[in-house]
Amino acid sequence: METNRIYLTFIDSEKYLSVSPTETVLTALIDNDIPIKQACTNGACGICLTPLLAGEIDYAEKTPRGLNQKEKQGSYFLPCIATCKTDIYIGHPKVPLR
Ligand code: FES
Repeated sequence: METNRIYLTFIDSEKYLSVSPTETVLTALIDNDIPIKQACTNGACGICLTPLLAGEIDYAEKTPRGLNQKEKQGSYFLPCIATCKTDIYIGHPKVPLR
């Protein structure tokens, strides 16, 4: 199965995770011990909000209800319902993990 890469620019621009086409970005981050806050895991609460710096993600049939218009225009995405269509580059998740 073909995999894509998630580049973690907030750690090191060379650091990446490999992710399968069916795995959500959130799952890949958690499985690799990358700190990210989560709650609903269905795109509703917006707490996992993360900057998408480059590349394409796919929400499939899910709706990113936790994103407002300003966040969409600012290129944020919701990792809990997103899979990778291409390699992606992400910034630091917006809500810090305490
Ligand atoms: S965890 Fe709620 S929108 Fe991602």
